[in-house]
Amino acid sequence: MRLYINIDHVATVREARRTDEPDPVRAAVLAELGGAQAITVHLREDRRHIRDRDVLLLLETVRTGVNLELAVEEEVLKFAVENRPMQATLVPERREEVTTEGGLELSDSGRRQLVAASLTRLRDAGIRTSLFIDPVEETIRMSAELGADAVELHTGEYANATLAGREAQLERLRRGASLGHEVGLAVHAGHGLTYENVTPVAAIAEIEELNIGHSVVSRAVFVGMERAVREMLHIVMEARRGVGS
Ligand code: PXP
Repeated sequence: MRLYINIDHVATVREARRTDEPDPVRAAVLAELGGAQAITVHLREDRRHIRDRDVLLLLETVRTGVNLELAVEEEVLKFAVENRPMQATLVPERREEVTTEGGLELSDSGRRQLVAASLTRLRDAGIRTSLFIDPVEETIRMSAELGADAVELHTGEYANATLAGREAQLERLRRGASLGHEVGLAVHAGHGLTYENVTPVAAIAEIEELNIGHSVVSRAVFVGMERAVREMLHIVMEARRGVGS
C-alpha cells in the first residue's frame, strides 16, 4: 500500500491572496518527511490552485515521485509528455466544479478514442498511467481494454454516503477493486477520504495506492504537514495489518 499526498489545497490557500505562500513545494518536502510515498497534484486547465511553476519545481525536488492529475486536454497533456512525471492520472474536469465530481466517462466511443490516444502518448513518454473512474464494472473493463496501467476508483460516493448507505458503497469498491485486479489493472483509490473514513478502504486487499489531499492539508493547518501525513500513514498501515502489505 502506498500513500500519495495531494497538496493542491496548499496552493488553494496561496491563490486566495495570489501571493507566494504557502508554497506547495515546501509542503511536499514536509509531506515526504512524514512518509508520503509520492506527491499528487492536479494541474487544472484554469490553474486555480497548482501552477506550471509548482509542477516543474516539484519534478526537480520531490524525491519519491510526482503523480500528475490532468484532464484529457491538449495543453496539459503536452505539458505532461514534455515534463514526464512518474505517473499521470487522467481525470474529468469541468470549470464550474468545486472539485472533481465524477469518474471519467468512457461509455462514448469518441471519448474512449481520445482517452486511448492520451494513454498512448503518456506511455510512450515513459509515464505510468492511471484512469480516475467510478467503481463500475463496464468502466473498469474498458479501462483495461484501453491499456491503462491502473485505475483510481473514485471514493467520493462512499465518503458522502450516510452511515446506512456506507456498506453498500464499500461493497461497490470491493467488487471494483477485485475486478480491476482480475483484469490486470493496478488498483488505486481516492477522493473524500479522511482520518475517520479511510480504514475500510485501506483494508481492501487489491488497493495498492491511496490519494488523499483535503483532509490531510486541513489537519496540517493545526498540527503541521509532517505530523498530519504521519498520522494518516499510521491509520492506513494499521488497516493493512492482516491484509499482508
Ligand atoms: N484523486 C483524484 C483523482 C482527485 O481528483 C482528488 C482531488 O483532487 C483526490 C484524489 C484527492 O481528494 P481529496 O482532496 O478529497 O482527498
